[in-house]
Amino acid sequence: MKKKLLFMLALVVTLLVGWGATSTTAQAATDNSLARVQKKGTLVMGTSPDYPPYEFQATVHGKSKIVGMDVAVGQKIAKGLGVKLVVKSMSFDSLLVALQTGKVDMVISGMNPTPARKKNVDFTHLYYQGGYSIVVNKSEKGLYKDKDSFKGKTIGAQTGSTMYNESKKQTTDTKVKGMTSVSDLILALQSHKLAGVAMEKPSAQAYVANNKQLAMIPSHFNLSASDTSAAVAFKKGSTSLVTAANKSVDQIRKQDLVNKDYLPAAGKYLKTNTVNTSMWHYWKAFLTGVKYTLIITVCSVFFGFILGVLLSLARMAKGGVIKTALRWLATAYVEFIRGTPMMVQVMFVYFGLGLIVNLPALTSGIIAISLNSGAYIAEYIRGGINSVDDGQTEAARSLGLTNTATLRYVVLPQALKNIWPSLGNEFITLIKDSSIVSIIGVSELIFQSNIVRSDTYRGVAPIAVIMVLYFIMTFTASRILNYFERRMQHD
Ligand code: ARG
Repeated sequence: MKKKLLFMLALVVTLLVGWGATSTTAQAATDNSLARVQKKGTLVMGTSPDYPPYEFQATVHGKSKIVGMDVAVGQKIAKGLGVKLVVKSMSFDSLLVALQTGKVDMVISGMNPTPARKKNVDFTHLYYQGGYSIVVNKSEKGLYKDKDSFKGKTIGAQTGSTMYNESKKQTTDTKVKGMTSVSDLILALQSHKLAGVAMEKPSAQAYVANNKQLAMIPSHFNLSASDTSAAVAFKKGSTSLVTAANKSVDQIRKQDLVNKDYLPAAGKYLKTNTVNTSMWHYWKAFLTGVKYTLIITVCSVFFGFILGVLLSLARMAKGGVIKTALRWLATAYVEFIRGTPMMVQVMFVYFGLGLIVNLPALTSGIIAISLNSGAYIAEYIRGGINSVDDGQTEAARSLGLTNTATLRYVVLPQALKNIWPSLGNEFITLIKDSSIVSIIGVSELIFQSNIVRSDTYRGVAPIAVIMVLYFIMTFTASRILNYFERRMQHD
């Protein structure tokens, strides 16, 4: 039995790995990238909007929007191709994965075309040269001169960025801490968890201009020109698309559009950005977050319950070959899901399944969480059914009820009473754990709070707000569930 279970697991893993491997090698045989984008009519740009003036969130006519010079570059390229630009926000370290798995058509995110990246994606010509700086607390500015002044201290850099790698390579006795978002790094700096944050000079200037408590110093990193210049990334092998995009990029360079036009325009947004930083001002964003959190939770518990019932029945199936196979499959599934982190599952559904069918982030999130929840719910149900006394089944059977009828009318209703509290717990857990889907860009509560944080440059207040909102949701849910639990005890 154990051996067979192991075999099943090995099979599942082999299939998954094999699938991943073939899907990356199969690409780029023929290059129809340009034709594909033009047929589709949209050019989807992936970016990490925590990097003013390159890209950042700003409130335009009461709506949060991604703006910045990179968006202008994207618009110019899209116009050159005769298609519409769609901007998709995600964390910097998942941008290239999103590109490779076809979630976005191009990445513009102040990204430097380093040799390592060039191995995996294709870059256009350079559109802008930045250079590195280090942001410090103004009160400590006197202590630091450049990258060599941080001995015994910790500096921060965005995970997956060139600053992160260079800070590791080019400093001694300095700890380098990586975080997913630059806004978080700034927060950590202000609460003195970090002594400095390395980033591109224009970005450093933007953060300093927006926050009186910050200052900047030169980095004096030893860098090549392409390490400090930004280019647009496309999927490996999309030569036709890169060639077409290069026409716009060359124009941008030749007419110096970034300095003359895109940067001043971005600067205007930066100023309007800090006008109203009250949390009340953002109630709509928080409300959207609550809405999506609840949608994800309700859908996932619903589908998870259906899956859970099926799985638990399969796990309890006894008899012929098919039933035994079903039992093994269900057991392998439950073990596999419970043995891997939900975060990995969410990324797998979004990026992995995405290679076959292109699902939107929200759908992917609901699928992943339902699949995950189903495995747990299956165990609750199995436990609940097992807890119903055997005498009940025997009595029902001797009264002439069929197996199915016994299960449906006698066992399941009693089991449900036992399962209800665990099911309620699962619901409450999912309200909190659904926050994981923010990594694939679903606009749930955490995602919204990140937007508000980068919009207002305020770190703690949005976190406090969502903490209260999460509590209100879980507390209300647990009251409601308790009420039904008590009602059920009475019947
Ligand atoms: N230029 C650096 C890099 O290519 C950092 C870019 C960060 N961009 C951003 N949108 N956060 O790694």
